[in-house]
Amino acid sequence: MKKSNTPPKRVLVKTWGCQMNVYDSERMSDILHPLGFEDTDNAEDADLVVLNTCHIREKAAEKIYSELGRLRKIKAERQANGLQTKIAVVGCVAQAEGAEILKRAPVVDLVLGPQSYHKLPEMLSGLETGGSDSARTVLATDFDVDEKFKQLPKKRVATGPTAFLTVQEGCDKFCTFCVVPYTRGAEHSRTTDEITAEARALVTSGVREITLLGQNVNAWAAAAPTGVDETWGLAQLLGHLSKIDGLDRLRYTTSHPRDMDAQLIAAHGSLPKLMPYLHLPVQSGSNRILQAMNRQHTIEEYFSKITDIRRTRPDIALSGDFIVGFPGETDQDFEDTLHCIREVGYASAYSFKYSPRPGTPGAGLDDQVPEPIKSERLQRLQALVWEQQLAFNQAQIGKMLPVLFERVGRHAGQLGGRSAYLQSVYVQAAPELIGQIVDVQIISASNNALSGQLVSA
Ligand code: SAH
Ligand code: SF4
Ligand code: F3S
Repeated sequence: MKKSNTPPKRVLVKTWGCQMNVYDSERMSDILHPLGFEDTDNAEDADLVVLNTCHIREKAAEKIYSELGRLRKIKAERQANGLQTKIAVVGCVAQAEGAEILKRAPVVDLVLGPQSYHKLPEMLSGLETGGSDSARTVLATDFDVDEKFKQLPKKRVATGPTAFLTVQEGCDKFCTFCVVPYTRGAEHSRTTDEITAEARALVTSGVREITLLGQNVNAWAAAAPTGVDETWGLAQLLGHLSKIDGLDRLRYTTSHPRDMDAQLIAAHGSLPKLMPYLHLPVQSGSNRILQAMNRQHTIEEYFSKITDIRRTRPDIALSGDFIVGFPGETDQDFEDTLHCIREVGYASAYSFKYSPRPGTPGAGLDDQVPEPIKSERLQRLQALVWEQQLAFNQAQIGKMLPVLFERVGRHAGQLGGRSAYLQSVYVQAAPELIGQIVDVQIISASNNALSGQLVSA
């Protein structure tokens, strides 16, 4: 783009939370760049700071207020030098707390919910013309997801060989611990045509691996491509995207066990581009707790799906999410969760202490588990998962794995990439290999990464 004489405006976008927030942050950058904004990593240089927030656990939400405390000082210093700084809080905290944020943090100019990002330019110009305080605004009420995707720029420019693509937003499941149905609204699936066009644009700009995103991605259901009079599910969408030349790897996340249907399981056997890795959170191994969480399936049903998946794709790597200390969780319930982990054997897993969230049914339950018990359970669970992760990674030593190189590593001459099982792999290799899928001989493994060497080296 041709440079004008006015200095560029700079924007700092900071992102917390899940991959959908990462996707949304990229899309906000896509909106802001044509308005003359350049990215910066440094708040001192930023004319606009966008905090894309997460409300999933109390700690996640509170981080925003400490960040805003830091920004208050920077904004004042910049102001003393005659520079303006606009601060926008967007994402799930924005949706959940709305105007409360403006009250609690006067430094904030703009509060914008996750379904309203396309209105960002309009709101920024409102701030500029409307003076300072009078224009402080909140837009975090509607859930018009369709409008959001229609209004976002059509063209996407890849930032590397891998990309996220949101295909579904929101959640109708109302697990009793979870804020997502309140912050992201009802389930909404984008159409096959819209998704295919975005995937093609990504591949044209150099992407080789796409991860389809949704809070309930395997509940995706939408119209088939124009001309085909059908409603498709995720298995068909994956089959359709598999046909894009130049796209080599497909993944999807996050799935709910209930929506893991036979067709989708079969896709893991029939689509070579669909990577052998599945994140399928179960949260607890106890039927009593699963019921109290409103997960709408039993542990036996979960095990049976895992058996089917493994039968279809024997080398699949499984990952999961676990919550310890949901209200009423007894020692036996917790032992059932450990049993589930031993039964399944995870390649990786995320685990959290239950955090009561305002407005969710779980927060109002009487039998909250004391903090020290939650900590002790989390420690035991994480020790078990740690062992499994290490064993899974060590089992790759001596094997030849195809790795998609994504970035330069931290050490000189090193590249980092991902195996089909989503493991980080580090190799000494030339940067020209970024964006290529290359066979790597695995030499060593730690809990969170593998290292290896190029076969020809
Ligand atoms: N849609 C996904 C999960 C989205 S939230 C699913 O259905 O599994 C990501 C993870 O955060 C959840 O899987 C859960 O393990 C954790 N989580 C959500 N709410 C939580 C809470 N109140 N306290 C602790 N962990 C929570
Ligand atoms: Fe939250 Fe449950 Fe929906 Fe997942 S399925 S986003 S845990 S309510
Ligand atoms: Fe957090 Fe919202 Fe994602 S609450 S986990 S950023 S959907």
